[in-house]
Amino acid sequence: MIFAGILAGGTGTRMNIADLPKQFLPLMDKPIIIHTIEKFLVNSEIDYVFIGVHKAWTTHMNDLIKKYLSAFEERIVVIWGGEDRNDTIMNIIEAIQKLHETTDEDIIITHDAVRPFITPRIIEENIKAAKEHGACDTIIPASDTIVISEDGKFISSIPKRGNMYQGQTPQSFKIPLLKKVYDEITEDEKSILTDACKAFVIRGVPVAVVMGEPQNMKITNMTDLKIAEHLVSAEDLKLD
Ligand code: CTP
Repeated sequence: MIFAGILAGGTGTRMNIADLPKQFLPLMDKPIIIHTIEKFLVNSEIDYVFIGVHKAWTTHMNDLIKKYLSAFEERIVVIWGGEDRNDTIMNIIEAIQKLHETTDEDIIITHDAVRPFITPRIIEENIKAAKEHGACDTIIPASDTIVISEDGKFISSIPKRGNMYQGQTPQSFKIPLLKKVYDEITEDEKSILTDACKAFVIRGVPVAVVMGEPQNMKITNMTDLKIAEHLVSAEDLKLD
């Protein structure tokens, strides 16, 4: 089976708004997270969409599903997110395993709730790459030169730009493989993990890459939200 895992357990501190995590902010006609979930529901290969939400916001999430996605309720499961992003992924996997005895071929496509412009191609290629290689990440070529500064005062190095990419999501995995790799990681290693693919890199387990799109942006701050509003308008124009 194929599961989407929508990561919505964060509270969006960098957005600097006190009362609503950014994934619930309106983006034109509906909340950001609803745009994101819809992109997965329209893919008929995906059996269930699991959403990991901060404890305090599960009722709100369920209300949004009733309001915007009532036709799809049977394919949606809302669970509590974790302390950090990877904990949220692990909570989703635990919930999947309660629903269904997972096999080696079962796949999870993990995706940030705050990347509402994911395209059908990116989802399809993630499914294909996870089936073939066991793990994949979505990346785009770095458009700016990447500069490394170990101390934040002076440049340590400037890697060759042609080899530099920026990580997006989805990151997709065969579920038992992800669990095995994650279980093998030490507590120290876990504390420096910014994403699930890094666990594979630390353990030397190959991760395939899928090309993302610049529009598959993560909404982190108010400027991103303004850009996102323009992108939605452009999407609407294409549909007209
Ligand atoms: N996320 C999650 N569980 C957490 C923390 C983050 O599922 N415990 C999710 C966020 O909800 C978001 C995605 O991971 O969809 C990407 O994280 P980020 O943009 O850093 O979101 P926040 O943690 O909400 O933002 P900030 O770092 O500004 O607080």
